[in-house]
Amino acid sequence: MALFEWKAEYNLGIASIDRQHRRLVAMINALDDGLNTQGRYSEPVLKSIFVELGDYTASHFSYEENLFEIHGYADTEAHKQEHLALLDQVVDLQIRVQSGETEIGPELLAFLKRWLTSHILGSDRQYAGFLIDKGVE
Ligand SMILES: [Fe+2]
Ligand SMILES: [Fe+2]
Repeated sequence: MALFEWKAEYNLGIASIDRQHRRLVAMINALDDGLNTQGRYSEPVLKSIFVELGDYTASHFSYEENLFEIHGYADTEAHKQEHLALLDQVVDLQIRVQSGETEIGPELLAFLKRWLTSHILGSDRQYAGFLIDKGVE
């Protein structure tokens, strides 16, 4: 069973964003699959999925922020700050893993799952109605 099951409640009703969130969840599951029985990452996982997750997270955040700018979302600044804080943590973990601290796997996955879930269900959910009213799909 996948570590992180997608639930209907994660859907915001904006197809492009729901697709991106699903992909993030899939990447976290791929990271979990990449852990070996000792809870360490294999080299290919470090080089591909983890870097890809960092990049994809950054581009997903930019996608949302761009929509906020275009449509004049009132909570843009606070939401951006939250993205920045999350990205900082992802980059920090990325550096730790890349510098050989590969045993942080389970901690990392728990963290990623926690923040993604709380951000989607919290801050992201708050903009959903606004962007849907603006016709964003
Ligand atoms: Fe998001
Ligand atoms: Fe967000």
